Amino acid sequence: MCGITACVTAAADRGDDGDVVDVLLGGLRNLEYRGYDSAGVATTAGDGVTVVKREGGIDELAEAVGVVEPTGRAGVGHTRWSTHGAPTDANAHPHTDCANRVAVVHNGIIENYQSLREELAADGHSFTSETDTEVVPHLVAEALADGATPDGALRAAADRLEGSFALAMVVRGHDAVYAARQGSPLVVGVADGRRFLASDVPSFLQHTRDVVYLEDGDVVRATGDGHEVTDRSGRPVDRPVESVDWQAEDAERDGFDHYMLKEIHEQPAALERAVNGRVSADGDVHLEDFPPGSFADVSDVQFVACGTSYHASLYARQLLAERGVPAQVFSAGEYATTPAPVDEDTLVVAVTQSGETADTLQSVRRAAADGARTLAVTNVVGSTAARECDDALFIRAGPEIGVAATKTFSSQVAALSLLVERLTGDVTGTAGEHRDDLLRALDRLPSDVQQILDQSGPAGLADRFRDREGHFFIGRGVGFPVALEGALKFKEITYEHAEGFAAGELKHGPLALVTPDTPVFAVFTGRHDEKTLHNVEEVQSRGAEVVGIASEASADVAATVDEFLPIPDTHPAAAGVLANVQLQLVSYHVADLLGRSIDKPRNLAKSVTVE
Ligand code: M6R
Repeated sequence: MCGITACVTAAADRGDDGDVVDVLLGGLRNLEYRGYDSAGVATTAGDGVTVVKREGGIDELAEAVGVVEPTGRAGVGHTRWSTHGAPTDANAHPHTDCANRVAVVHNGIIENYQSLREELAADGHSFTSETDTEVVPHLVAEALADGATPDGALRAAADRLEGSFALAMVVRGHDAVYAARQGSPLVVGVADGRRFLASDVPSFLQHTRDVVYLEDGDVVRATGDGHEVTDRSGRPVDRPVESVDWQAEDAERDGFDHYMLKEIHEQPAALERAVNGRVSADGDVHLEDFPPGSFADVSDVQFVACGTSYHASLYARQLLAERGVPAQVFSAGEYATTPAPVDEDTLVVAVTQSGETADTLQSVRRAAADGARTLAVTNVVGSTAARECDDALFIRAGPEIGVAATKTFSSQVAALSLLVERLTGDVTGTAGEHRDDLLRALDRLPSDVQQILDQSGPAGLADRFRDREGHFFIGRGVGFPVALEGALKFKEITYEHAEGFAAGELKHGPLALVTPDTPVFAVFTGRHDEKTLHNVEEVQSRGAEVVGIASEASADVAATVDEFLPIPDTHPAAAGVLANVQLQLVSYHVADLLGRSIDKPRNLAKSVTVE
């Protein structure tokens, strides 16, 4: 949802030219998953600010940069996911004031931009874009004209804005970058003689792993020699430098055709990390911040999440239900406006890969304001969710660049399975009769996933499913969220129609859509498979071809379905993760055959930081 990046160097003192343009382009490439409809950079050198921006992706921008050849030791960059105004050159960021003295990039939404724009226009400012962002450089210019310093001017501008923003700017004549944060993510990267600013750490991961996570209300002035963080009134605030344990290579494609395929193949390692050290040899769950008894007071569990994280939450709810612990799952977009009642014994679990999804953050803020205890289950240490919730459980999947969530779903389910164990033990006072089997299955998940990846099953099927009227995914128990997730992945990257249903629900309406031209993917987990087989027969008798994803030992399923994608035989609670890997591969190969933009599907962005 827009990525911003910035870099400033102290190279003059070190004897090289310290030009930041290549660093900015590299930083933008690493952030392209956040938005990819237009992009731009601005640098300041001597008495000028040079802006280059283009509709399209970073390749188009790099081409334009090659022609204009901007230089500078301080610069900002942006890759856009449009909210206000079409993806055109004019609407691309950075935006400048009338005198081209200030260039600003922005992630977020400025809600009161119309009234500010009218006010500024009445004062003689002219605008060249339809964006909400463009008011910012004009507000900054006004404050500079009144004698403010650049950081003071940014503070003054930020005070006028309503909505959410991460802003970064350069100002003519200053070898510095300035930034402000309110409601949208922004981190500082700290390296010798250089400072970086970005929406997300992968932007500068090849340069440094030392980061400063900014808080709402923070304003930064960074030079090559250091950075100062102040609050909106200009008082210094202390933000520690932390070291992230992600490696630069984690955010690279590593010889795979797409990040998505790489991330599908990273699942064994990611699952290993999710579970590693969290289950002891004697079969006990050790969740670092959650010793036994941590959830003893919990009387009500509510999950809030979006998209794939919503499906992982449904999976966790099913696991809890099987253990006799009721829980509810809410789409965060709904919960944010229509929250469920909570009290201090309610545990609200925000499941969010990025930790920055606006709807999810809004939901936990509402719940916290009403007295609930909040827990973030997230991939990103230092994310807003991790910092704002009372507690955080990290899924340890490593950076995920493909817009389609793959390894993070598996890691979410693994981490949530352990959380379920802890919750069940605390809430019911019993470990549950099949706990040991489940923990053993979790331990085996990495090798079971590897076994699937070593086969080439779905690749050979892709051609059969490319030009169909629709694609249905069905499952029950944990197979139901997997069916939803399979359909989401399929539609997201193939752009073909796909829907997921609870297997038993088909006959209550969706069956009317089933024809010989609507293949059905049926997920079997080893629990109530005979019922799902009835549902398969129902669709087969309407002429639909069925792809069954089930244990390699399921002779009944293999004999009934038209195509069989086997998974290693395991505990039903873990089988869903394995079936999901097969479905990820189906979607990937169909999308690849159709020539889709797999890592950056149209209209989507990785991190949805607007409501
Ligand atoms: O970062 P989050 O987990 O909060 O993101 C939630 C959804 O936007 C995300 O899962 C989205 O549905 C994925 N692109 C699906 O592949």
